[in-house]
Amino acid sequence: KDSLQAQLIRIYEEANRFYHQVLTQTQTGEKALAYLHERQLTDETIEEFQLGYSPSQRGALVDYLKGKLEDISYDVLVQSALFIETQEKELLDRFSNRIIFPITNHQSETIAFSGRHVDLEDDDVWIESSGHPPAKYVNSPDTPIFNKSDTLYNYAKARAQVRRQEEIYLFEGYMDVIAAWQAGLPNGVASMGTSLTASQIRQIEKLTDKIIIAYDGDSAGLQASDRALDLLSKEYFDLELVLFPDKSDPDDYIQKRGSESFLDLMHHGRLTPTGFYLQYYRQNRNLNNESELLEYIDQVLKEMVHVASAVEREVYLKQLADEFDLTIDSLKDQLSQIISQHRHQKIQEKYADKNTSSSLTQT
Ligand code: CTP
Ligand code: MN
Ligand code: MN
Ligand code: MN
Ligand code: MN
Repeated sequence: KDSLQAQLIRIYEEANRFYHQVLTQTQTGEKALAYLHERQLTDETIEEFQLGYSPSQRGALVDYLKGKLEDISYDVLVQSALFIETQEKELLDRFSNRIIFPITNHQSETIAFSGRHVDLEDDDVWIESSGHPPAKYVNSPDTPIFNKSDTLYNYAKARAQVRRQEEIYLFEGYMDVIAAWQAGLPNGVASMGTSLTASQIRQIEKLTDKIIIAYDGDSAGLQASDRALDLLSKEYFDLELVLFPDKSDPDDYIQKRGSESFLDLMHHGRLTPTGFYLQYYRQNRNLNNESELLEYIDQVLKEMVHVASAVEREVYLKQLADEFDLTIDSLKDQLSQIISQHRHQKIQEKYADKNTSSSLTQT
């Protein structure tokens, strides 16, 4: 008999076949398919990512699986987490009336789903029955075959292209990865709606040391970019970022401006981390106000501590000096002060570590 893991993967593969069939070949899936077409996904893309649709009728999946997986026990079906078990031991589909994005492991086997709520007609019914609007995405919980924080969406498909092109694009959402693929960028992945984890970083590191962060242009996305830079600059990655205008995300941008403009932005519109921070710290700040301007310059200079190249530092210092009518020497002075404070702090941290570890060994 197959191991538990192998049985669970068989269940997910069958479930994926079911959802995909419902989307592409049945009347039940028509509206969801029209929704995806409206979002400009082609049938080829829907095939490539094996997108699906879970019907609102919540017994449909288990009925389908019963015919396909006769040797699989009730207990294993419960462990798959594809279902909500009622008190009467009835299995109801966890995903109902949602577009299904299959999540795969490194061997391209389906190990989880994410379901996007579709703005179809029974929205109001939902709000009436539960008092709140449905979550935009629902993900499978962790199971013996799926650990959300170890998983990157589209990793298996992107892997070969990442190696070939020696760089990877990091997106925020599934739809961004998919729209970018359709526009001609096959080397994109997304974390699973959480901030980047150490385990995800290890997996990227195996493929390339160059990462282009292409998160959403809204304030949540900018903050996530800042967080990702903090995490990734501790490692030896070569980092660049792309900013999307008017709070848009990559998928919005493609729909609005087309693939060519998108590819141009992704290839030729990249910022260095310092270039990003020059814009990031400008948000919600009036730079005509002197104290706000000083704060701004201080924050940008603090980020420049990590810039190894003297020429790169010079370029940005000159830019700041020109824009705010300062001398480059005064900026250089302040930067070297910040750098020596930073070193001092590092040394103190080291001592503090040593002291705690030696007092531990003494007791
Ligand atoms: N996400 C999630 N749960 C939510 C909202 C978001 O897990 N309730 C995750 C999903 O992985 C999603 C990503 O965070 O893809 C980014 O969220 P968002 O920008 O809101 O969604 P989009 O990917 O832009 O989705 P869409 O274009 O369909 O609105
Ligand atoms: Mn198909
Ligand atoms: Mn977002
Ligand atoms: Mn988005
Ligand atoms: Mn979007």
